[in-house]
Amino acid sequence: MSNILDLITEKVQRAFADAGFDPSYGRVTVSNRPDLCEYQCNGALAAAKQYHCAPLSIAQAVAEKLDAADFEMIQAAAPGFLNLKLSGTFLQAYLQGMRTAPDFGVEKIGAGKTVVVDYGGANVAKPLHIGHLRPAIIGEALKRLHAYLGYKAIGDVHLGDWGLQMGLIIAELSSRQPELCYFDPDYTGEYPSEPPFTLADLEELYPTASARKKVDPAFAEQAHQATAALQQGHPGYRALWQHIMNVSLADLHRVYDALDVHFEAWLGESDAEPYIPAMIADLKDRGFAVESEGALVFPVAEDTDKKEMPPCILVKSDGASIYATTDLATLVQRMQDNHPDKILYVTDKRQALHFEQIFRAARKSGIVPPETQLEHLGHGTMNGKDGKPFKTRDGGVLRLETLITEMTDFVRAKVVENRIVEDDQVEDTTHKIALAALKYGDLSNQPTKDYNFDLERFAAFEGNTGLYILYTIVRVKSILSRYGAWAHLPIQPPANACAKDLMIAITGFSPTLQSALKSSAPNLICAYIYELAGCVNKFYHETRILTEEDKDLQAGYIALIGLAKDILEQCIYILGFSAPDKM
Ligand code: ARG
Repeated sequence: MSNILDLITEKVQRAFADAGFDPSYGRVTVSNRPDLCEYQCNGALAAAKQYHCAPLSIAQAVAEKLDAADFEMIQAAAPGFLNLKLSGTFLQAYLQGMRTAPDFGVEKIGAGKTVVVDYGGANVAKPLHIGHLRPAIIGEALKRLHAYLGYKAIGDVHLGDWGLQMGLIIAELSSRQPELCYFDPDYTGEYPSEPPFTLADLEELYPTASARKKVDPAFAEQAHQATAALQQGHPGYRALWQHIMNVSLADLHRVYDALDVHFEAWLGESDAEPYIPAMIADLKDRGFAVESEGALVFPVAEDTDKKEMPPCILVKSDGASIYATTDLATLVQRMQDNHPDKILYVTDKRQALHFEQIFRAARKSGIVPPETQLEHLGHGTMNGKDGKPFKTRDGGVLRLETLITEMTDFVRAKVVENRIVEDDQVEDTTHKIALAALKYGDLSNQPTKDYNFDLERFAAFEGNTGLYILYTIVRVKSILSRYGAWAHLPIQPPANACAKDLMIAITGFSPTLQSALKSSAPNLICAYIYELAGCVNKFYHETRILTEEDKDLQAGYIALIGLAKDILEQCIYILGFSAPDKM
């Protein structure tokens, strides 16, 4: 279906043409004076210059050519505005079209296209911490949005599984248990299938090794060597690496599942490894990669640069590949395997320089062709309630799981205290509400801005919160279930002003999703459903629905709130949460 603004624009453009003017002046916008009209066209003001006549007379001539059946009000206002209000029947037909078309008639702008969304960014052997919350939530929403608008959307967690943290764990383990077969250069048997550590061990090994690296240069050197040896194929280290992966991945799956964040691909830096040698050789051959102080680098600076643009380091002097190497090789792999039209990275904005370097190297070398769009969405930081960086009581980094548990416990206490649901429903309801609080609290902010995490505020029923949206959906669900079967009921023209406001709000669905995709801004969807929920609640308060005696009128009310609820639910699905039946 066409967006409603395009549809009205077409009508006004035709009227411009019929009145003898260039139709391109007929662009319609949402009114910036909602007290006067719903939509407006200011084209007569511009046309007046070309046609050397009074703008008001142009607006009047155009007004006369518009079809009165489409508009409740057509007004040419001084000095030359065209003010419009839609007719009830126009809105009725449009909304009936929305509810009968697949996916509410959204235009599938991504049909036939593929997008890879690189988000999550978990690091193997390190527990997820609160810094991983935003990329997971924002990335999941953007992936779902692309999929809904027709893209083949591949979410890839792009695990950090090939870097120094692996060498650190290997070096730490070898100093604690040198007798393990993984460290025996003469070992030729099969390596054990059971890992030599548990998840708890792993969670202690990494921070210990990481701290030791800072004070013990010999150990740091060992860890670097172990990293390079692992990357070059040391069999014992590879076997250990596989154990680290297995133990850690099981845990990562568990936490992402709890967040309702799901990846189509669990690839990582290590999966780029097979592409590195050929890529390096090719970049050297073609003169893109050059030696510099023992390392191999890809210069990406340009004459027009205003800030310093360091070269991309591809191979360090010790032979190890780093973050940039694996990211560039991952692009080789993605182009080969997925042929994406777009690759969207969601990471902390502090990685902006890294992606700028990678994108430049990918373009210069032709690894990524010009028709494939590369975008880095750098998100801001989630701070504590006081606006300061989030820390545990003893100053450490807060685990993501701890944050989820705190939110869940807070919500569960409310659910139990208010006796919202039967005992066996408490966990499910709590989970849904907690996710809504957490995700909406995040997504309602512009992704690029920092925000403060505030448990009480996010989990409040009032205000611009996820709970307010859920509450609205639950309220409508309850009316619908008391009414009975409703899915077949047709949309009717608005019976009152609140109904009309609600209908107009509903028409914003498709344009909102398109803008949110275009600017990678799930916050636009949040703003949209907040407004839509407001219209639903206003309509509910000002209209007797279940007690209405005129059954036809009542059926129209029900059809309308049913459509609004379906759209709210579709939007929160895209945002990554869902509504309980009761709350
Ligand atoms: N693992 C990285 C980190 O913790 C994030 C990975 C983001 N994706 C990428 N392709 N570089 O910072």
